[in-house]
This record gives sequence, structure tokens and C-alpha cells, in this order.
Amino acid sequence: MCKADIMIDGKKLCEVPVIVDNMGGKSLDITNFRKETGYITYDPGFGNTGSCRSSITYLDGEKGLLQYRGYPIEDLVENCDFVEVAYLLVHGYLPTVKERKKYADLLNENSLIHPQMRNFFRNYPDNAHPMSILAAMVVSLQPFYPEIDLAEDPEKQMDLNVTRLLSKMRTIAAFTYRKIAGMEFVNPNSKYSYCENFLNMMFSSPVKEYVPNPIHIKALNKLLILHADHEQNCSTTAVRLIGSSEANLYAAVSAGICALWGPKHGGANQAVIEMLEQILESGESLTKIVERAKDKDDPFKLMGFGHRVYKTYDPRAKIARKMCDEVLADLGTSDPLLELAEQLEDIALHDPYFVERNLYPNVDFYTGIIFRAMGIPTNMYTVMFALGRLPGWIAHYLEWNHDPYEKIGRPRQLYTGPQTKKILPIEERT
Ligand code: ACO
Repeated sequence: MCKADIMIDGKKLCEVPVIVDNMGGKSLDITNFRKETGYITYDPGFGNTGSCRSSITYLDGEKGLLQYRGYPIEDLVENCDFVEVAYLLVHGYLPTVKERKKYADLLNENSLIHPQMRNFFRNYPDNAHPMSILAAMVVSLQPFYPEIDLAEDPEKQMDLNVTRLLSKMRTIAAFTYRKIAGMEFVNPNSKYSYCENFLNMMFSSPVKEYVPNPIHIKALNKLLILHADHEQNCSTTAVRLIGSSEANLYAAVSAGICALWGPKHGGANQAVIEMLEQILESGESLTKIVERAKDKDDPFKLMGFGHRVYKTYDPRAKIARKMCDEVLADLGTSDPLLELAEQLEDIALHDPYFVERNLYPNVDFYTGIIFRAMGIPTNMYTVMFALGRLPGWIAHYLEWNHDPYEKIGRPRQLYTGPQTKKILPIEERT
């Protein structure tokens, strides 16, 4: 095995093993670094830290590559539906016809949520953000479906719990929308496929059954696949970290939902559309918008731009941009926000500030325009992201569960507070 010397002031401190992963990625194994040297490493934002071994998703940010279980994202979007990709992520391989059918049946059998949970929705404030409801409802599933802790056959029970969560979170997402819109809930219907069922629960009325539009169904499948996993991002790391304490799957996924909510992560899809709407309404020039995004004294950032890992065009953004044109053309409609987004992208990509920093559109820049075309309201976009990301979160939770290298997550810190102090009697304190 290859080793690297760590030197301090020209003197060898220790040697650490070098690990080369399946795609040639190199890392220094510092597992015993503190024990052997007394030093820790400092890496805010974990930009250089590999926190686990994972066989789920591979991405190369310099080349703009993304693969789930070895399959390129472009191929998955063209050739699979979301349920197949969810199966792939969770089980590690694409299902056969028989497995696909069994999985679809299991998803249908487990799609209802406990009647008592409907009261939770009703008692939520009408102005609640859908992500708040989603996170609360997912963690609330645990007492209603506690088999995970009682399992005699943990593998079988875990499979059931995974399928349950995939199915029930779709129902919860649709109920969340209807609660906020002040509409009665529509139950899932087993005659529909996964995505059709979701659209039916969203858009049916008690008097008129919604006939799912095939263009919407196709677009939804693709969008959910685009979001299905993205290795150790903020929300997935949250899921793995919570899972590392041996908290249950619902608790870990609920934490992932909360992490996703932020505008620097999945909340960016909502923020992009709000930004574009605001530009359209104010008539502010795009050049000025880009100038503001560059100004360090202005907190404004170009939402949907930049990425920790991609230093070239995000492959998901490339697919989403193409989808915008296709979906709008198929629906025979147009959207002024698409034109605006394309102009904004063009200006930014020719600006030295964005070029020097390798800032390109990320997945969230164009997806909102497609959700908008499907009639999904802006505050639901991050919920849609969460629905897509769910199989990835589950796959990472399960992977952690089976990995002999995994330990409870517990980083160190660089302490910057006061040194040891003595408590003075109260009358002597100033
Ligand atoms: N607009 C203007 N400047 C930007 C932007 C942006 N959107 N993104 C990064 N920069 C600048 C930073 O100010 C920084 O400049 P500096 O070197 O002069 O200090 C430089 O580019 C590097 O950016 P960092 O913030 O250090 O990069 P980091 O990896 O920490 O952050 C992030 C990545 C959070 C995505 C950031 O680019 C951002 O805030 N983007 C806007 C929000 C967004 O679209 N989030 C969705 C990301 S995709 C996802 O999570 C699904």
C-alpha cells in the first residue's frame, strides 16, 4: 500500500495510508491521525473530507459527470421511470419485469396514511411552509409504523419500511399541498402509476377526477430521477449523520428534509423563481442584477448558480434546460421566465467574475420553470425535490447501516472561546 509522509517544519510527523477508489480518486486515510500525532485536521464545510465509503453515486465535478450505481444520469432519464431508479438506488441494481411489478404493487399497498395523521395536517397553520409540514409528517410516521424497531426479520422489515416511506411520503406531499390550498384530501388510487397517482392526489377535485396529462407524467418522472441522489451533499450528510446515532429511518429522513429546505441547497429552486418573478416585475436590468450578485457588500446572490462540487455545467441543469423547451413546446405554451433565465445565464457565463469562479447554473436554475408549467405552486418546489431525493437518502441510510467502517458522526473543533476562568462572587463581577 502506498503511504504519504506528513511533515511539520521539515520533520516527519507520521505516515498515512493513501487510498485510491474505484474511479481513481485519491485520499489520505487519517483515521488514526489524532491518536498517533495529537493533531486534528481543519476543513470547514468538509470540502476536502471524505466522510464515508459509498457505492451509490459517482460524480466528477470537473468533467460534469453524474452516475447512479454506474449508470449515467442522461441514460436513466431517457430510459427509466422514477420507480425503477428508486429501486436501483435502494437495491443496487435495476429491477426485472417481475421485480418492477412486485415493487409497484407494494408501493400501492402502502400508499395510505393513518387516518389520525389527517388531523395533524388540519391543525397546521394555513400559512405554514410545505417543507415544515413535510418534515413533521415524515417523523410522525414512526409511532404509526414502528415495525422497524420490532422486526424479527430486520432485512424484510426494512424493505417494507423503505417502500412504505417512498409511497407514504408521496401521499404526504400531495396532502401538504391540499392543506395549504384549503382543499379536501384525495386518497391515492391503485389504478395509477407512482407519478400519475401523485398528480391525481394533487389536482383531482371531489366532483371531477383529474385526468393526468401524459406530458406532465413524463416530465415528473424525469425531474424526480434528476433529483434522486447526489452523493454526500448537505441533506444526505444530515441523513447519514442522524442515522449514525442509530436513530430510525423516519427521523433521519426528516432531518434530511430540514437540511434541504435552506436556500443554499434545495430551497434554491423556490428562490430562483421568486428572483426571476421579482426581476420581471421590477423591470430591473439583467446587467444590474449580475452586478449586484458580484458586489460583496450586497447579500444578493444569483440563485441557482454555483456549486460546491461542479466546476463546469451541472449535467442535471443541462437536462433540465432542454426539458424546459420540450415540455413548454409539448404543452403548446410559453413562459417569460424561461426567456429571462436564458438571458441571465448568457450574461453571467460571459462575465469574468462567474468565469473565474467556475459558476454555472445548477439543477435548481431551470427545474422551477417545469414545475410551474405543470401547475405546481412555487412553495412546493422544494417538496418536489425532497420527493425525488428520498430514494437517495434511503439508500445512504441503508448503506451506513450495513457498513462495518461506519461510526457515530462526531467531528472535532478548533476552540476559540476563553481559557479557563474562575467564578467571582457576584458583587465582584463587573
Ligand atoms: N452568485 C454570486 N456569487 C457566487 C455565487 C452566486 N450564486 N455562488 C458562489 N459565488 C461566489 C462566492 O461569493 C465566492 O466568491 P469569492 O471567491 O470572491 O469569495 C465564490 O463564488 C465561491 O463560492 P462559495 O460560496 O465559496 O462556494 P460554496 O461551495 O461554499 O457554495 C453554493 C456553493 C452554496 C451552492 C453557492 O454557490 C450558492 O450560494 N449558490 C446560490 C444558491 C444555490 O443555487 N444553491 C443550490 C445549490 S445546488 C443544490 O444544493 C441542489
